[in-house]
Amino acid sequence: MSSRYHQVYESWKRDPDGFWAEAARDIDWFKPWDKVFDALAGVYGRWFTGAECNSCHNAVDRHVASGRADQTALIYDSPITGRQKKYTYAELLAEVTALAAVLQDQGVQKGDRVIIYMPMVPEAAFAMLACARLGAIHSVVFGGFAPKELATRIDDATPKLIISASCGVEPNRVIAYKPLLDGAIDLARHKPERCIVLQREEQRCDLIPGRDLDYAEAVAAAKASGREVPCVPVLATDPLYILYTSGTTGQPKGVVRDNGGHMVMLKWSMEHEFGVKPGEVFWAASDVGWVVGHSYIVYAPLFHGCTTILFEGKPVGTPDAGTFWRVISEHGAVALFTAPTAFRAIRKEDPAGTFIPRYDLKKFRTLFLAGERADPETIKWAEQHLDRPVIDHWWQTETGAPISQNPIGLGQLPVKYGSPGVAMPGYDVQVLDDAGHPVAPGTLGNVVIKLPLPPGCLPTLWHADERFHRAYLDEFPGYYKTADAGYLDEDGYLFIMARTDDIINVAGHRLSTGGMEEVLASHPDVAECAVVGIHDELKGQVPCGFIVLSSAATRDTATIEHEIVQLVRERIGAVAALKLVVTIKRLPKTRSGKILRSTMQKIADKEEWIMPATIDDPAILEEIKAALAARGIGI
Ligand code: COA
Ligand code: AMP
Repeated sequence: MSSRYHQVYESWKRDPDGFWAEAARDIDWFKPWDKVFDALAGVYGRWFTGAECNSCHNAVDRHVASGRADQTALIYDSPITGRQKKYTYAELLAEVTALAAVLQDQGVQKGDRVIIYMPMVPEAAFAMLACARLGAIHSVVFGGFAPKELATRIDDATPKLIISASCGVEPNRVIAYKPLLDGAIDLARHKPERCIVLQREEQRCDLIPGRDLDYAEAVAAAKASGREVPCVPVLATDPLYILYTSGTTGQPKGVVRDNGGHMVMLKWSMEHEFGVKPGEVFWAASDVGWVVGHSYIVYAPLFHGCTTILFEGKPVGTPDAGTFWRVISEHGAVALFTAPTAFRAIRKEDPAGTFIPRYDLKKFRTLFLAGERADPETIKWAEQHLDRPVIDHWWQTETGAPISQNPIGLGQLPVKYGSPGVAMPGYDVQVLDDAGHPVAPGTLGNVVIKLPLPPGCLPTLWHADERFHRAYLDEFPGYYKTADAGYLDEDGYLFIMARTDDIINVAGHRLSTGGMEEVLASHPDVAECAVVGIHDELKGQVPCGFIVLSSAATRDTATIEHEIVQLVRERIGAVAALKLVVTIKRLPKTRSGKILRSTMQKIADKEEWIMPATIDDPAILEEIKAALAARGIGI
């Protein structure tokens, strides 16, 4: 089948407003828009201004009303606890309405913020949808983040209430969430009025009288009361959620997502980008704490009337490297979306793909990979063993949906290994040099998107228009800076090669090395430090910390290095995966004092590097090389 991609992309280019107005017909609106796009509103313009809608209505109520009440909406599959549960759309509505009633009783109203700090349990999705129902703004914080990270988000979002759980379950341990939650509230300046806590059987917790409510008890009481909680109309431009993502400092960026544009883009993407039909089973094996979880575990599949799978497990070890195939066959998933790192983990454990033929994958059509660069070896392995299209696609927390992809829904284009495809409608992707001039095809440069961004992208950062400008819009006027470096080839295929800032990608998780440096620097024995992302076979990148000890430090270096590893786990979370700290005598710097982090990374990764002309003392790089070699790195 030939692809409709070029025709559809051109139709968007010719008439963007007409294109998105047409796509918006698939959404239920309470009041139509005044303008499809108002260039004068917001920082760079706003989509569907004047329209009124509700995201929960479009994800749940409309499907119950239109014949999907008995269709399974959500499948909870948790190999880590041995539990499974299915919810029809009608049952999902009952759960969400009851929780919305509880929130309402606690005074949560349109525009209030609610933080959700939960493991991968269905109640996390109910909580998101209950907030959406009331027009409250949710902010999901990944369960693997430590109290300090949660506290930072509490202070920025100033939530009225937090929804959490007694514990999370990792393969090697049960993680008590309640002490983390209480610790975060202690650390935070802002104190939420209430916490609603889901007691999990794996480890229950004590509740604080007067502050904490038991989730199950409160929801049961709301169900018994039979109270109806209608969806609250919100403006299309009102925020649906804030999702914090790593910035270049320890202060994360609060990416704002609106209601209207988000619905339009996600609904459109399900059919045209992912090639999935309403009623089919779609599985994104991610976590609700990340953008992939927001968009493709919760919102997009539900907007589209699909069945979504919420999976609490790992690609390997729960119990084996066949888990993904078991889930696909058992639930009849037509598509799986995950991070390449998950496939690297499966391949490492089961290189010959022996688990795959043990399962019936007849319904399974497409594998989607995103979140980090998909190395061609991993893609080819997946293609060979699955005998299905493997689609790499590129996007960011900020965009909420793919920027570039091989648009399988419009008809697959030829595959180019190493490329996450071509620009999706809505995106005019260009590559500029540092002075802002377009570069020739094949030339590496700054990947930017011509403004305006399409529906669904962030309109700004939470209460930080100025930071939004500075971080994304100022450097290349008229464009959004993705902070990715890459190139476009002659056919318009994009190749994403690296970040241009200090963000690293660890097992598909976006982390700031700047944030880690702040933690290292806070250790009393550390005089100076640098953190760089070095290559890792499984996780893509892992952080490597370099420390210079203060002259007052008297203890042995191994002890201090171990303390620093622990400090990062305590302050950021185990998910930062900082396991390597190397003590060195001094840091390599330019004469103007800039630390040569990229040269250090190249030495560690055994990449070619040239002596920077401006280096203060070239001998330092030999010292770094020796210190790394002593750990078996870079040799
Ligand atoms: N709550 C608490 N701790 C968590 C956590 C959570 N939700 N998620 C991860 N952690 C902890 C892990 O227990 C681990 O701790 P440890 O150092 O004590 O072992 C640490 O954070 C790192 O976890 P993880 O990144 O999961 O690494 P891993 O070595 O345990 O597993 C993979 C490796 C590849 C199997 C795993 O990273 C994976 O499944 N990746 C897919 C990532 C993904 O879906 N990303 C979303 C983008 S689409
Ligand atoms: P996040 O905001 O966590 O989704 O991370 C976004 C960043 O991950 C992007 O800016 C890229 O650096 C990287 N990324 C995501 N998907 C891909 C991909 N398919 N190929 C290369 N890099 C990717």
